[in-house]
Amino acid sequence: MKRVLFFGLFLAVLPLSGWSSTPDQIRLQAGFWTFVQYCQGCHSTRYQRYGQVAGDLDIAPEQLPARPGDRMLSSLDGQDARAWFGLQPPDLTLIARVRGTDWLQDFLQGFYADPARPFGVNNRLLPGLAMPHVLAPLQAQLSAADYAARVRDLVDFLAYSAAPFRQESRQLGAGVLLFLGIFTVFAWLLKREYWKDPPAGPH
Ligand code: HEC
Repeated sequence: MKRVLFFGLFLAVLPLSGWSSTPDQIRLQAGFWTFVQYCQGCHSTRYQRYGQVAGDLDIAPEQLPARPGDRMLSSLDGQDARAWFGLQPPDLTLIARVRGTDWLQDFLQGFYADPARPFGVNNRLLPGLAMPHVLAPLQAQLSAADYAARVRDLVDFLAYSAAPFRQESRQLGAGVLLFLGIFTVFAWLLKREYWKDPPAGPH
């Protein structure tokens, strides 16, 4: 009986220890790193804090590029973006809600060479935009399918960023179900223990 109890306790603590990331988290982690490496030079996601993202996506705090309490600002914030691009690149925290994920996917795959433009590229969805094709090196390196997958992870990260509570409620739901499952086992064990030799009733 004692051994069963310990095993149950061990099972209950396992998910709390964050011993492994879910497949969803691994894809969102990839999206996060693509964002940090390729987008954050110009765009912030200022309504997100690194620590929140690290917790949700199961990233070790010491791997973060900034302190956990910091907002995800761009190094371009407060600098002369206007002089370089004619405008401040927009914050992307909520962009997935504004544009939708399909639009973002098409947008990031929609760059094409156009020598008439300042950066030599144009975009099918935002003609004449002031953003260079920053993923061009990645696109040149990868097959079309792999590039699409990398963009999908990035877009899913932006979708998570726009609705972080969804990720949270999914985790909470899983935790509650697990707790109920384990609780049921213990309740059953307890009941069995109690009723081993039922007290002689008055009947
Ligand atoms: C070198 C700076 C720079 C980098 C790096 C950069 N962008 Fe941009 N981005 C801009 C600028 C400037 C605009 C505004 C373009 C315009 O409106 O003409 C923009 C616009 C956008 C828009 C359109 C927003 C809208 O709804 O109008 C999206 C989406 C976007 N960027 C996503 C990204 C993503 C994702 C990355 C990383 C893969 C990225 N950007 C990297 C400069 C940058």
